[in-house]
Amino acid sequence: MNNSSYLQRCIACRAEFDLSARLYVCSHCGGLLDVDRREESGIDPSALRELWRARKSSLDARDRSGVWRFREFLPFADDAPIVSLGEGNTPLYDAPRSADYCRLAQLKLKHQGCNPTGSFKDTGMTVAVTQAQQLGARFVACASTGNTAASLAAYAARADLPCAIIVPGGQVSHAKLAQALDYGAKVLEIEGNFDVCMNVIRELSEDGAVYLVNSINPFRIEGQKTVAFELAEQLEWRVPDHLVLPGGNLGNSSAFGKGFRELLQSGLIERMPRITVVQAAGAAPFAHFYADADHSSFVNDEHPKTLASAIKIGAPVSWPKALRAVTETGGGVITVTEQEIADAKAVIGRDGIGCEPASATTVAGIQKLVADGVIQAHESVVAVLTGHLLKDTDYVMQYHNNSLVAPDNTHIAGNFANRPIRTSASRDALRKLLTADDTE
Ligand code: F0G
Repeated sequence: MNNSSYLQRCIACRAEFDLSARLYVCSHCGGLLDVDRREESGIDPSALRELWRARKSSLDARDRSGVWRFREFLPFADDAPIVSLGEGNTPLYDAPRSADYCRLAQLKLKHQGCNPTGSFKDTGMTVAVTQAQQLGARFVACASTGNTAASLAAYAARADLPCAIIVPGGQVSHAKLAQALDYGAKVLEIEGNFDVCMNVIRELSEDGAVYLVNSINPFRIEGQKTVAFELAEQLEWRVPDHLVLPGGNLGNSSAFGKGFRELLQSGLIERMPRITVVQAAGAAPFAHFYADADHSSFVNDEHPKTLASAIKIGAPVSWPKALRAVTETGGGVITVTEQEIADAKAVIGRDGIGCEPASATTVAGIQKLVADGVIQAHESVVAVLTGHLLKDTDYVMQYHNNSLVAPDNTHIAGNFANRPIRTSASRDALRKLLTADDTE
């Protein structure tokens, strides 16, 4: 059951709709929808913090999920059946080598790649697929650069719901595709990029043939916003000065904005962090739009290009919500090059953490922001790593073999490459290699 104290509201014309209305955008003006509370709920911040902390030691599946543990802020009745894989509860790591690389005193990495299917999408998918069940949907679907696909496939399998994923043919990492296949999704590879996939699946969802669970679906954002709650809790409710995350379709930036906004409005935190979105320079329509001083018209990029395939997106659906998050927090939108992404990724690896290329835009971006004086060395900074290292091992191997080539055919230098060494199986040869001085 949905919770009747919530509704869907258009962020543009403020039109209101019931939660059971199967909409993705406003039926009056086409604006994006938020799921909102009808009225203030009279929250007691310290009682809630206590309750959420106590749930950590409970064995109830609802309490063990890092998303549903915060269900006072989710639009479902307390006893609604949920579809969960125990998502959330991801680590917040100190990353001293990455901090040095950025010339920061300290840097923390919130690793959303430690979710059940290896990306942040799970925190949103648990809620979207729960809502799909609530609505009695018979078929769920999404367009994807790979991670949403893997996540939906897993949650649909848990819910025993048929699902289809539409992906750009030949442009998705093998690991992500392998997940979707193994979880039993119908995998449809389309000629064209992510934006083409997104357009066609939106058309298909309009006549109700499928229930769409891309991040245009506001229930996805409801799940993803809880990461802001978990992060604030991990920092003892003192938010960082800066939160930096990658931007593709811009659902995640929207979700962090909404999460922190709700925490602030409820008195759970005292201020919001400045949210900065980082895009790959070859797929940066939001950065270009933001750089334009009057933010007049959003121009899609017809031919986005980046090796960070997760964020190879030229027509991001959620940009108005992401713009709201960035402007209300005094953050920004920047770009980083393919070389910067690749090096930052290897540096994150040296912290023993690792991530997929799209996630490394964060550390690359922070290095730039510190160099440009936007972030001061003593400020507190959290980067959100969105996907696991094992999501794209082809990229990793090419970088370390110094053979990575950018979309414009320029060679990406393996500045932090760690090449495998072929050697004979002899003790002397191994001893020599193990005692060799790498700095020579
Ligand atoms: N990082 C990773 C690893 C992603 O998979 C994505 C998006 C993003 C960042 C960007 O997040 O779209 O909310 O701005 N992946 C989508 C997908 C598009 O289909 O898996 P966003």
